[in-house]
Amino acid sequence: MDGIIDLRSDTVTTPTEEMRRAMAEAEVGDDVYGEDPTVNRLQERSAEILGKEAGLFVPTGTMGNQVAVKLHTQPGQEVVVEERGHIYNYEMATMAALSGCLARPVRGERGLLSWGRIEAALAPPVYYRARTGLIALENTHNMAGGTVMTAQETKVITDQAHKRSIPVHLDGARIFNAAVALNTRVSELAGDCDSVMFCFSKGLSAPIGSMLVGKKEFIQEAWRVRKMMGGGMRQVGVLAAAALIALERMPCRLHEDHENAKRLARALAQLPAFQVDPATVETNILIADLSGWTSSQFLPRLKERGVLAGSTGPAQVRFVTHKDVSAADIDKAVEIIVDVCKGQGVF
Ligand SMILES: Cc1ncc(COP(=O)(O)O)c(C=O)c1O
Repeated sequence: MDGIIDLRSDTVTTPTEEMRRAMAEAEVGDDVYGEDPTVNRLQERSAEILGKEAGLFVPTGTMGNQVAVKLHTQPGQEVVVEERGHIYNYEMATMAALSGCLARPVRGERGLLSWGRIEAALAPPVYYRARTGLIALENTHNMAGGTVMTAQETKVITDQAHKRSIPVHLDGARIFNAAVALNTRVSELAGDCDSVMFCFSKGLSAPIGSMLVGKKEFIQEAWRVRKMMGGGMRQVGVLAAAALIALERMPCRLHEDHENAKRLARALAQLPAFQVDPATVETNILIADLSGWTSSQFLPRLKERGVLAGSTGPAQVRFVTHKDVSAADIDKAVEIIVDVCKGQGVF
């Protein structure tokens, strides 16, 4: 949308010219038969970059997460998740509907689960309590404000979980943002997690698609579950071609999004209408508390002036930076926000 500064999500990013060209020229085949060469290349490269044995291209992050839940668990088991986690709050209760599992939500510090908090939520080993079938992590953590979990923090959890034979799934929708923020490799952050899902269609700017990676036998089974969920795709190399460019070329520009989120946070921290600590902004997501007004007062006025953001609570808003928002756009958005504050008498 011309002239609109859209800070609702990094999912609004549009494909690059290079992606569009690659899509038009993609070599394709029937992927249900495993015959799409572009998809096969994408799956192999993804597994290699994440340090896992195999990968499976899925249409959405939600499907990737839920295929993993289904494979790791048995009906009647519990899944330990962070209270604000995507897999628990924004995936249509699929773990209950399709896997017969109960979420066991745990509050994490800045959205990040520690072993101590997880251990307290594990089912005790008595026959009359449901077993913990899975621990699900999220890095970066979306609704906690794009917070990052280090490789060491993840390792403590996977080591302890594996001692108890509990698998660990990582929702790494934005794992490349985490790797850039920590100046490390995504394979380090994937660590010993039994499965990892990551998205091409968020900050990496591909139009569609996510990847589930894990051990060979796990991914072989994931093919079956993806088909059950209606995710068997045909000449999907046209999408994999864009995703390959997302994978190879886009991570190196994510630091710009992180700088822009900081830039916005620093500006909002100066305004009495917001409570923002720029030091807490680690990647491309800024969650800001409002002082003296509500998100339903703020957001429509902001929208009238051509700036879009999302509500994450009655007095809380979320701004997400991405490829289609420049530093100049951030400065323009700040000018508009200041005007809106003045108009509302909260400046
Ligand atoms: C952390 C996280 N996980 C999973 C997803 C699901 O991705 P999709 O929208 O492709 O289903 C999202 C989407 O925003 C997300 O933020």
